[in-house]
Amino acid sequence: MSVILDVQNVTVRFGGVLALDNVSCKVNQGEFLCLIGPNGAGKTTMMRAVAGVIKPQAAQVMLAGKDITYLPTHKRARLGLALTHQIVRPFRSMSVIDNVALTAGHDLIGRVFKSMVSVDRSTARNQAQKYLELVGIEDVAQKNVVGQPLGVTKRLEVARALALEPKVLLLDEPLAGLNSVEAARLADTVADINRQGLTVVMIEHNLGEVLRVSQRLVVLDNGRKIADGKPMDVMHDPTVRAAYVGKERQNAAA
Ligand SMILES: Nc1ncnc2c1ncn2[C@@H]1O[C@H](COP(=O)(O)OP(=O)(O)OP(=O)(O)O)[C@@H](O)[C@H]1O
Ligand SMILES: [Mg+2]
Repeated sequence: MSVILDVQNVTVRFGGVLALDNVSCKVNQGEFLCLIGPNGAGKTTMMRAVAGVIKPQAAQVMLAGKDITYLPTHKRARLGLALTHQIVRPFRSMSVIDNVALTAGHDLIGRVFKSMVSVDRSTARNQAQKYLELVGIEDVAQKNVVGQPLGVTKRLEVARALALEPKVLLLDEPLAGLNSVEAARLADTVADINRQGLTVVMIEHNLGEVLRVSQRLVVLDNGRKIADGKPMDVMHDPTVRAAYVGKERQNAAA
């Protein structure tokens, strides 16, 4: 098994808060890894540090053998890291397909020598259509994105990430806010995309879906990695159970 993403010794402080304390994690080519843990554990911070959205106090990030630790976000994206956000970002007021074509178009611009080739908008749109079909929202391709239900916008986020043609897809709570049927459908879609060969790292609180689709779990708690292994082994780990139960007690007391 080859390692596609190797993240070592990530430490992130926000003022007095130690959000991540020397966390390391390897992701194998083609695997479906889920990153779980109670609220505030540091999951989003970890993903943002990997994508270069925040600057850690310490870290080393290798993507496909290349050291990307000091690269800005857009260069990491171009090298193959695509991140979706926990909270769906406001989309531009344009059609669903154009929102994806915009991302696909950016990618084309990045790949060709700008002054020599004008980007063919229809190429970007054809690609966008492919990604909409992949995530199952091709029927609303021409509709304006504003006013679309969460089930559509969550899928649109995934389609836009896919339009970057990533080596690794980083998903931050793609199922949050969806009902159980929609959550299962989107989880199935991501699993399908993974089976086609794309490496997926997914943060998710929906443990039912996590256990159904993931091949390995990494658990964070209070900025530390407390478990890493096969889903069922991890879920039976007393340290992991204690972390979740402890958090529930804190929430109940609050
Ligand atoms: N931009 C920020 N500024 C200050 N503190 C932050 C910032 N982002 C995160 N934190 C803090 O860092 C810690 C980890 O937060 P993070 O958002 O990574 O947790 P999480 O595991 O993604 O939680 P959730 O499951 O609720 O999304 C928390 O204590 C949080 O309050
Ligand atoms: Mg989060």
